Amino acid sequence: MSSRIPFNRPCLAGNEYQYIAEAIANGHASGDGPFTHRCSELLKQELVVPEVLLTPSCTDALEMAALLLNCGPDDEVIVPSFTFVSTANAFALRGARIVFADIRPDTLNLDETRLEALITRRTKAVVPVHYAGVSCAMDEILSMAKCHGVKVVEDNAHGLFSRFKGRYTGTFGCLATQSFHETKNFTCGEGGALIVNDPDLVERALIIRDKGTNRSRFYRGQVDKYTWVDLGSSYLLSDFLAAFLYAQLEAREQIQTKRLRVWNYYYGQLHDWAQSGEVKLPVVPADCEHSSHMFYLLMPSREDRDSLIAHLKENDILSVFHYVPLHLSDAGKTFMARQTDCHVAEGVSERLLRLPFYNDLTDSELSLVVDTVRRFSVRSECKN
Ligand SMILES: Cc1ncc(COP(=O)(O)O)c(C=O)c1O
Repeated sequence: MSSRIPFNRPCLAGNEYQYIAEAIANGHASGDGPFTHRCSELLKQELVVPEVLLTPSCTDALEMAALLLNCGPDDEVIVPSFTFVSTANAFALRGARIVFADIRPDTLNLDETRLEALITRRTKAVVPVHYAGVSCAMDEILSMAKCHGVKVVEDNAHGLFSRFKGRYTGTFGCLATQSFHETKNFTCGEGGALIVNDPDLVERALIIRDKGTNRSRFYRGQVDKYTWVDLGSSYLLSDFLAAFLYAQLEAREQIQTKRLRVWNYYYGQLHDWAQSGEVKLPVVPADCEHSSHMFYLLMPSREDRDSLIAHLKENDILSVFHYVPLHLSDAGKTFMARQTDCHVAEGVSERLLRLPFYNDLTDSELSLVVDTVRRFSVRSECKN
Protein backbone atom coordinates (compact mmCIF):
# COMPACT_ATOMS: atom_id res chain seq x y z
CA MET A 1 0.00 0.00 0.00
CA SER A 2 1.45 3.38 -0.93
CA SER A 3 2.04 6.03 1.73
CA ARG A 4 0.66 9.56 1.70
CA ILE A 5 4.26 10.70 1.79
CA PRO A 6 6.45 8.08 0.08
CA PHE A 7 10.16 7.81 0.67
CA ASN A 8 10.85 8.68 -2.96
CA ARG A 9 8.77 9.83 -5.92
CA PRO A 10 9.86 10.30 -9.56
CA CYS A 11 10.01 14.02 -10.37
CA LEU A 12 10.17 15.50 -13.85
CA ALA A 13 12.56 18.36 -14.57
CA GLY A 14 10.71 19.53 -17.68
CA ASN A 15 11.95 18.21 -21.03
CA GLU A 16 11.84 14.45 -20.41
CA TYR A 17 8.87 13.61 -22.69
CA GLN A 18 10.09 15.91 -25.45
CA TYR A 19 13.56 14.33 -25.46
CA ILE A 20 12.20 10.80 -25.41
CA ALA A 21 10.04 11.68 -28.42
CA GLU A 22 13.18 13.08 -30.09
CA ALA A 23 15.11 9.91 -29.26
CA ILE A 24 12.37 7.81 -30.87
CA ALA A 25 12.37 10.08 -33.92
CA ASN A 26 16.17 9.77 -34.09
CA GLY A 27 15.69 6.05 -34.64
CA HIS A 28 18.55 5.21 -32.29
CA ALA A 29 17.15 3.17 -29.40
CA SER A 30 20.27 1.24 -28.38
CA GLY A 31 23.31 2.61 -26.57
CA ASP A 32 25.89 5.18 -27.65
CA GLY A 33 23.31 7.32 -29.47
CA PRO A 34 22.86 11.12 -29.68
CA PHE A 35 21.46 11.55 -26.15
CA THR A 36 24.18 9.34 -24.66
CA HIS A 37 26.72 11.68 -26.26
CA ARG A 38 24.91 14.77 -25.00
CA CYS A 39 24.90 13.43 -21.41
CA SER A 40 28.56 12.44 -21.62
CA GLU A 41 29.61 15.78 -23.06
CA LEU A 42 27.66 17.70 -20.42
CA LEU A 43 29.26 15.71 -17.61
CA LYS A 44 32.74 15.86 -19.17
CA GLN A 45 32.56 19.61 -19.46
CA GLU A 46 31.05 20.21 -16.04
CA LEU A 47 33.40 17.86 -14.18
CA VAL A 48 36.37 18.56 -16.49
CA VAL A 49 37.31 14.89 -16.89
CA PRO A 50 38.68 12.95 -19.88
CA GLU A 51 35.75 10.52 -20.32
CA VAL A 52 32.29 9.74 -18.95
CA LEU A 53 30.62 6.53 -20.14
CA LEU A 54 26.94 6.02 -19.39
CA THR A 55 26.11 2.55 -18.07
CA PRO A 56 22.87 0.77 -17.18
CA SER A 57 23.70 1.17 -13.45
CA CYS A 58 26.34 2.19 -10.97
CA THR A 59 26.75 -1.54 -10.30
CA ASP A 60 27.82 -1.98 -13.94
CA ALA A 61 30.22 0.95 -13.70
CA LEU A 62 31.82 -0.67 -10.63
CA GLU A 63 32.11 -3.96 -12.52
CA MET A 64 33.81 -2.11 -15.38
CA ALA A 65 36.23 -0.59 -12.85
CA ALA A 66 37.11 -4.05 -11.52
CA LEU A 67 37.76 -5.29 -15.07
CA LEU A 68 39.79 -2.19 -15.97
CA LEU A 69 42.05 -2.65 -12.94
CA ASN A 70 42.51 -6.38 -13.78
CA CYS A 71 41.36 -7.35 -10.30
CA GLY A 72 41.77 -11.06 -9.65
CA PRO A 73 42.19 -13.71 -6.96
CA ASP A 74 45.62 -12.40 -5.89
CA ASP A 75 44.19 -8.99 -5.08
CA GLU A 76 42.54 -7.37 -2.10
CA VAL A 77 40.15 -4.46 -2.43
CA ILE A 78 39.27 -2.24 0.54
CA VAL A 79 35.66 -1.06 0.76
CA PRO A 80 33.68 0.41 3.67
CA SER A 81 31.44 -2.15 5.36
CA PHE A 82 28.65 0.42 5.45
CA THR A 83 27.82 0.57 1.74
CA PHE A 84 25.63 -0.98 -0.91
CA VAL A 85 26.38 -4.56 -1.96
CA SER A 86 27.66 -3.56 -5.41
CA THR A 87 30.67 -1.66 -4.05
CA ALA A 88 32.10 -5.01 -2.89
CA ASN A 89 30.35 -7.45 -5.23
CA ALA A 90 31.85 -5.92 -8.39
CA PHE A 91 35.36 -6.81 -7.19
CA ALA A 92 34.39 -10.16 -5.65
CA LEU A 93 33.01 -11.13 -9.09
CA ARG A 94 36.57 -10.92 -10.43
CA GLY A 95 37.79 -13.16 -7.61
CA ALA A 96 39.34 -10.38 -5.52
CA ARG A 97 39.17 -10.70 -1.72
CA ILE A 98 37.33 -7.93 0.07
CA VAL A 99 38.75 -6.10 3.08
CA PHE A 100 36.04 -4.27 5.00
CA ALA A 101 36.94 -0.89 6.48
CA ASP A 102 35.07 0.73 9.33
CA ILE A 103 33.47 4.15 8.96
CA ARG A 104 33.81 7.47 10.75
CA PRO A 105 31.12 8.12 13.36
CA ASP A 106 30.53 11.66 12.06
CA THR A 107 30.30 11.50 8.23
CA LEU A 108 29.73 7.70 8.07
CA ASN A 109 32.46 7.59 5.40
CA LEU A 110 35.40 5.19 5.26
CA ASP A 111 37.58 6.02 8.27
CA GLU A 112 40.81 7.30 6.75
CA THR A 113 42.63 7.05 10.09
CA ARG A 114 42.18 3.26 10.02
CA LEU A 115 42.92 2.76 6.33
CA GLU A 116 46.68 2.30 6.37
CA ALA A 117 46.44 -0.66 8.79
CA LEU A 118 44.26 -2.47 6.21
CA ILE A 119 46.70 -2.11 3.31
CA THR A 120 48.89 -5.13 2.46
CA ARG A 121 51.12 -5.90 -0.52
CA ARG A 122 48.05 -7.52 -2.12
CA THR A 123 45.91 -4.38 -1.95
CA LYS A 124 44.94 -3.40 -5.49
CA ALA A 125 42.36 -0.72 -4.82
CA VAL A 126 40.43 1.21 -2.22
CA VAL A 127 36.85 2.26 -2.93
CA PRO A 128 35.78 5.26 -0.84
CA VAL A 129 32.02 5.87 -0.88
CA HIS A 130 30.93 9.49 -0.46
CA TYR A 131 28.00 8.62 1.78
CA ALA A 132 24.95 10.87 1.40
CA GLY A 133 27.02 12.97 -1.00
CA VAL A 134 29.43 14.16 1.70
CA SER A 135 32.98 13.71 0.53
CA CYS A 136 35.44 11.33 2.17
CA ALA A 137 38.73 12.79 3.45
CA MET A 138 40.31 12.61 0.02
CA ASP A 139 43.69 14.16 0.92
CA GLU A 140 44.54 11.37 3.35
CA ILE A 141 43.05 8.60 1.21
CA LEU A 142 44.87 9.72 -1.95
CA SER A 143 48.21 10.18 -0.24
CA MET A 144 48.02 6.77 1.46
CA ALA A 145 47.00 5.13 -1.81
CA LYS A 146 49.83 6.81 -3.67
CA CYS A 147 52.37 5.84 -1.05
CA HIS A 148 51.37 2.15 -1.29
CA GLY A 149 50.71 2.00 -5.06
CA VAL A 150 46.97 1.42 -4.54
CA LYS A 151 44.33 2.60 -7.04
CA VAL A 152 41.43 4.75 -5.86
CA VAL A 153 37.96 4.11 -7.32
CA GLU A 154 35.40 6.55 -5.94
CA ASP A 155 31.90 5.15 -5.48
CA ASN A 156 30.15 8.45 -6.04
CA ALA A 157 26.65 6.96 -6.38
CA HIS A 158 25.26 9.62 -4.00
CA GLY A 159 27.58 12.46 -4.78
CA LEU A 160 27.23 13.91 -8.27
CA PHE A 161 28.14 17.63 -7.95
CA SER A 162 29.35 17.30 -4.34
CA ARG A 163 32.66 19.03 -3.74
CA PHE A 164 35.71 18.49 -1.59
CA LYS A 165 37.85 21.61 -1.14
CA GLY A 166 36.03 23.12 -4.11
CA ARG A 167 36.67 20.18 -6.46
CA TYR A 168 33.93 17.78 -7.58
CA THR A 169 33.88 14.32 -6.03
CA GLY A 170 34.29 11.70 -8.72
CA THR A 171 37.33 13.53 -10.12
CA PHE A 172 39.92 12.32 -7.58
CA GLY A 173 40.33 8.58 -8.20
CA CYS A 174 41.60 7.02 -11.44
CA LEU A 175 37.97 5.92 -11.85
CA ALA A 176 34.66 6.92 -10.27
CA THR A 177 31.12 5.64 -10.56
CA GLN A 178 27.73 7.38 -10.57
CA SER A 179 24.18 6.11 -10.12
CA PHE A 180 21.05 7.37 -11.86
CA HIS A 181 18.77 4.94 -10.04
CA GLU A 182 15.31 6.24 -9.15
CA THR A 183 16.32 7.41 -5.67
CA LYS A 184 19.21 9.56 -6.88
CA ASN A 185 19.21 13.33 -7.47
CA PHE A 186 19.34 12.77 -11.25
CA THR A 187 17.61 9.71 -12.57
CA CYS A 188 16.42 7.75 -15.55
CA GLY A 189 14.94 4.94 -13.46
CA GLU A 190 18.00 2.72 -13.68
CA GLY A 191 21.29 4.12 -14.94
CA GLY A 192 24.85 4.93 -14.08
CA ALA A 193 28.16 6.22 -15.38
CA LEU A 194 31.83 5.43 -15.23
CA ILE A 195 34.03 8.50 -14.92
CA VAL A 196 37.46 7.78 -16.36
CA ASN A 197 39.96 10.22 -14.90
CA ASP A 198 43.10 8.38 -16.02
CA PRO A 199 43.38 8.99 -19.79
CA ASP A 200 45.34 5.72 -20.15
CA LEU A 201 42.21 3.77 -19.17
CA VAL A 202 39.85 5.37 -21.69
CA GLU A 203 40.50 3.15 -24.73
CA ARG A 204 40.08 -0.10 -22.79
CA ALA A 205 36.99 1.23 -21.00
CA LEU A 206 35.38 1.74 -24.44
CA ILE A 207 36.16 -1.89 -25.31
CA ILE A 208 34.92 -3.32 -22.00
CA ARG A 209 31.58 -1.52 -22.19
CA ASP A 210 30.94 -2.88 -25.69
CA LYS A 211 31.16 -6.65 -25.08
CA GLY A 212 34.95 -6.67 -25.30
CA THR A 213 34.91 -5.49 -28.92
CA ASN A 214 36.73 -2.65 -30.65
CA ARG A 215 33.47 -1.31 -32.07
CA SER A 216 34.37 2.28 -30.99
CA ARG A 217 37.49 2.13 -33.14
CA PHE A 218 35.36 0.83 -36.02
CA TYR A 219 32.92 3.77 -35.65
CA ARG A 220 35.89 6.14 -35.64
CA GLY A 221 37.09 4.56 -38.89
CA GLN A 222 40.28 3.25 -37.26
CA VAL A 223 39.61 -0.39 -38.20
CA ASP A 224 37.60 -1.72 -41.15
CA LYS A 225 35.64 -4.29 -39.09
CA TYR A 226 35.16 -4.83 -35.40
CA THR A 227 35.96 -7.95 -33.45
CA TRP A 228 36.40 -9.45 -29.97
CA VAL A 229 39.61 -8.06 -28.46
CA ASP A 230 39.25 -8.27 -24.65
CA LEU A 231 36.90 -9.21 -21.83
CA GLY A 232 33.82 -7.06 -21.60
CA SER A 233 30.08 -7.06 -21.28
CA SER A 234 27.01 -5.13 -22.37
CA TYR A 235 27.43 -1.90 -20.41
CA LEU A 236 25.59 0.58 -22.66
CA LEU A 237 22.53 2.57 -21.59
CA SER A 238 19.60 2.74 -24.05
CA ASP A 239 19.41 6.15 -25.73
CA PHE A 240 15.73 6.38 -24.63
CA LEU A 241 16.89 6.40 -21.02
CA ALA A 242 19.74 8.76 -21.87
CA ALA A 243 17.11 11.15 -23.30
CA PHE A 244 15.25 11.15 -19.97
CA LEU A 245 18.53 11.59 -18.10
CA TYR A 246 19.63 14.49 -20.30
CA ALA A 247 16.51 16.45 -19.32
CA GLN A 248 17.45 15.94 -15.68
CA LEU A 249 21.14 16.79 -16.07
CA GLU A 250 20.31 19.89 -18.06
CA ALA A 251 18.14 21.06 -15.12
CA ARG A 252 20.89 20.34 -12.59
CA GLU A 253 20.86 23.77 -10.94
CA GLN A 254 17.10 23.75 -10.49
CA ILE A 255 17.17 20.18 -9.12
CA GLN A 256 20.03 20.87 -6.71
CA THR A 257 18.33 24.04 -5.46
CA LYS A 258 15.14 22.11 -4.74
CA ARG A 259 17.00 19.36 -2.91
CA LEU A 260 19.08 21.76 -0.85
CA ARG A 261 15.83 23.41 0.24
CA VAL A 262 14.50 20.06 1.49
CA TRP A 263 17.77 19.26 3.28
CA ASN A 264 17.98 22.70 4.91
CA TYR A 265 14.35 22.52 6.00
CA TYR A 266 14.83 19.18 7.74
CA TYR A 267 18.09 20.34 9.34
CA GLY A 268 16.69 23.65 10.55
CA GLN A 269 13.40 22.26 11.84
CA LEU A 270 14.80 19.17 13.54
CA HIS A 271 17.92 20.59 15.11
CA ASP A 272 16.60 21.41 18.59
CA TRP A 273 14.44 18.26 18.74
CA ALA A 274 17.50 16.16 17.82
CA GLN A 275 19.67 17.80 20.46
CA SER A 276 17.15 17.28 23.21
CA GLY A 277 16.79 13.57 22.37
CA GLU A 278 20.46 12.88 21.63
CA VAL A 279 19.61 12.19 18.02
CA LYS A 280 22.39 12.96 15.54
CA LEU A 281 21.83 14.80 12.27
CA PRO A 282 24.15 14.59 9.22
CA VAL A 283 27.60 16.13 9.68
CA VAL A 284 29.13 18.08 6.79
CA PRO A 285 32.80 19.00 7.38
CA ALA A 286 33.83 22.56 6.52
CA ASP A 287 35.76 21.51 3.40
CA CYS A 288 32.77 19.63 1.91
CA GLU A 289 29.79 20.86 -0.12
CA HIS A 290 27.27 18.02 -0.08
CA SER A 291 24.89 17.04 -2.89
CA SER A 292 21.69 17.09 -0.76
CA HIS A 293 21.19 13.48 -1.67
CA MET A 294 19.48 12.29 1.51
CA PHE A 295 18.57 13.27 5.03
CA TYR A 296 19.12 10.77 7.80
CA LEU A 297 18.63 10.65 11.57
CA LEU A 298 20.95 8.63 13.80
CA MET A 299 18.80 7.57 16.72
CA PRO A 300 20.26 6.68 20.14
CA SER A 301 19.26 3.00 19.80
CA ARG A 302 17.81 0.44 17.40
CA GLU A 303 14.59 0.42 19.48
CA ASP A 304 14.16 4.17 18.99
CA ARG A 305 14.93 3.87 15.28
CA ASP A 306 12.41 1.08 14.76
CA SER A 307 9.77 2.88 16.86
CA LEU A 308 10.23 6.10 14.90
CA ILE A 309 9.85 4.23 11.58
CA ALA A 310 6.65 2.64 12.97
CA HIS A 311 5.38 6.00 14.29
CA LEU A 312 5.92 7.63 10.88
CA LYS A 313 4.24 4.69 9.16
CA GLU A 314 1.19 5.01 11.41
CA ASN A 315 1.01 8.57 10.11
CA ASP A 316 1.31 7.38 6.51
CA ILE A 317 4.90 8.57 6.06
CA LEU A 318 7.50 6.17 4.71
CA SER A 319 10.97 6.36 6.26
CA VAL A 320 13.55 3.66 5.62
CA PHE A 321 16.73 2.26 7.16
CA HIS A 322 19.85 1.82 5.07
CA TYR A 323 22.73 -0.62 4.58
CA VAL A 324 23.20 -3.80 6.59
CA PRO A 325 26.98 -3.96 7.25
CA LEU A 326 28.55 -6.08 4.53
CA HIS A 327 31.07 -7.77 6.82
CA LEU A 328 28.11 -9.40 8.65
CA SER A 329 26.40 -10.61 5.46
CA ASP A 330 26.72 -14.22 4.24
CA ALA A 331 28.50 -13.19 1.04
CA GLY A 332 30.65 -10.68 2.92
CA LYS A 333 31.88 -13.47 5.18
CA THR A 334 32.54 -15.69 2.15
CA PHE A 335 34.43 -13.11 0.11
CA MET A 336 36.30 -11.19 2.83
CA ALA A 337 40.08 -11.54 2.98
CA ARG A 338 40.02 -11.61 6.77
CA GLN A 339 37.99 -10.44 9.75
CA THR A 340 38.23 -6.73 10.50
CA ASP A 341 36.74 -4.59 13.23
CA CYS A 342 33.82 -2.53 11.87
CA HIS A 343 31.95 -1.76 15.07
CA VAL A 344 31.03 1.79 14.06
CA ALA A 345 29.31 0.46 10.91
CA GLU A 346 27.40 -2.05 13.06
CA GLY A 347 26.11 0.63 15.44
CA VAL A 348 25.20 3.09 12.70
CA SER A 349 23.35 0.49 10.65
CA GLU A 350 21.06 -0.29 13.61
CA ARG A 351 20.29 3.33 14.41
CA LEU A 352 19.95 5.12 11.07
CA LEU A 353 16.76 6.06 9.29
CA ARG A 354 16.22 8.15 6.18
CA LEU A 355 13.37 10.63 5.83
CA PRO A 356 11.32 11.07 2.64
CA PHE A 357 13.43 12.94 0.10
CA TYR A 358 12.53 13.94 -3.43
CA ASN A 359 12.79 17.09 -5.51
CA ASP A 360 9.11 18.04 -5.39
CA LEU A 361 8.40 17.53 -1.66
CA THR A 362 5.88 20.30 -0.98
CA ASP A 363 5.90 22.69 1.98
CA SER A 364 2.89 20.94 3.50
CA GLU A 365 4.47 17.49 3.09
CA LEU A 366 7.70 18.74 4.64
CA SER A 367 5.96 20.29 7.60
CA LEU A 368 3.86 17.15 8.12
CA VAL A 369 7.03 14.98 8.21
CA VAL A 370 8.75 17.37 10.60
CA ASP A 371 5.74 17.74 12.92
CA THR A 372 5.31 13.96 13.04
CA VAL A 373 8.98 13.40 13.84
CA ARG A 374 8.89 16.08 16.53
CA ARG A 375 5.93 14.40 18.24
CA PHE A 376 8.09 11.31 18.77
CA SER A 377 9.94 11.11 22.07
CA VAL A 378 13.22 9.30 22.23
CA ARG A 379 13.32 6.68 24.98
CA SER A 380 16.91 5.37 25.16
CA GLU A 381 20.14 6.84 26.38
CA CYS A 382 22.63 7.62 23.60
CA LYS A 383 24.98 4.69 23.02
CA ASN A 384 28.01 6.62 21.80
C1 LIG B 1 26.98 3.60 -2.49
C2 LIG B 1 26.26 2.89 -3.59
N1 LIG B 1 26.97 2.33 -4.58
C3 LIG B 1 26.39 1.70 -5.60
C4 LIG B 1 25.02 1.60 -5.69
C5 LIG B 1 24.40 0.86 -6.84
O1 LIG B 1 23.73 1.74 -7.70
P1 LIG B 1 22.84 1.19 -8.91
O2 LIG B 1 21.49 0.86 -8.37
O3 LIG B 1 22.81 2.33 -9.89
O4 LIG B 1 23.54 0.01 -9.46
C6 LIG B 1 24.23 2.16 -4.69
C7 LIG B 1 22.76 2.08 -4.76
O5 LIG B 1 22.02 2.86 -4.25
C8 LIG B 1 24.85 2.82 -3.61
O6 LIG B 1 24.15 3.35 -2.59
